[in-house]
Amino acid sequence: MPKPKIFITRRLPTKLDQLQEIATIEIWEERQPPPYEVLLEKVKTIDGLLCLLTDEIDQQLIEAAGTSFKVISQMAVGYDNIDIPAATARKIPVGHTPGVLTDATADLTWALLMAAARRVVEADRFVRGGEWRTWEPNLLLGPNITGATLGIVGFGRIGQAIARRAKGFDMKVFYTSKHRCDQELEKDLGVEFTAFEHLLQEADFVTIHTPLSDETYHLFGNSQFELMKQSAILINTARGAIVHPEALYRALTSGEIAGAAIDVTDPEPIATDSPLLDLDNLIVTPHIGSASRQTREKMANMAIANLIAGLKGERLPNCVNP
Ligand code: DGY
Repeated sequence: MPKPKIFITRRLPTKLDQLQEIATIEIWEERQPPPYEVLLEKVKTIDGLLCLLTDEIDQQLIEAAGTSFKVISQMAVGYDNIDIPAATARKIPVGHTPGVLTDATADLTWALLMAAARRVVEADRFVRGGEWRTWEPNLLLGPNITGATLGIVGFGRIGQAIARRAKGFDMKVFYTSKHRCDQELEKDLGVEFTAFEHLLQEADFVTIHTPLSDETYHLFGNSQFELMKQSAILINTARGAIVHPEALYRALTSGEIAGAAIDVTDPEPIATDSPLLDLDNLIVTPHIGSASRQTREKMANMAIANLIAGLKGERLPNCVNP
């Protein structure tokens, strides 16, 4: 029996020995993702695909897959780049990597929140620009983090990990979510469920942890920024398209909010000439929420485990399809 053929859309931060024993592997070696047309051809001849959030796996691509195609395994927890109903219709299981990146993403969210509040990036530019002459009473002032009010939009694993960290900062924490979590957990985390609008009005820091879907696409637009405090700071480590980029620019330049720190953009990557990049009250990082060495290795191993299960016709350990 020939080994199943698989295609991996980038070099992975882990060993492939286990996979090599059972499959013939082709890896896309470029730094940029494979073009859509390349993937469209590949799926006709392979048995399994290990992909990333930068690969568009749409209905056309799924329908083009050959009859031996058995599994899509994504190395990410989010899967908004994959047409799940189309995969389900063809009985192709889709795997993802939940859980292992919760802490790394929560840590980066806190790094951004603190950097935005205490103007760390501006301060670094200030020193390197030769502007540090003396200690000044009014230099680079920002708001208190300790004792402030935090609003968490989306309360899954990552939202809850954010709340756990907020306990160390004596914060009042509101959350909003599709489903209210049980009262025991609310008590344990010291959080209060509230309506989205109320959270926007009350929070000094608003942090986004909801998946991207039709419901959350451009969830933050002009009217949401209007509700926020003028002193508020927005953090987004979820998906760029949850925030309308022009509305964000308007809010940051009109003083509707004080600042933002985003690890994700719309589009992604952000255009190098985007006016957002001219703003001192915005920090942008290149989608590195899960980028700790240990986390990325775990994500890759989990994606491989899903892929192997799919190739064997077994239920994926972490399957997205209903
Ligand atoms: C994910 O997993 O969805 C993150 O955005 C990247 O790690």
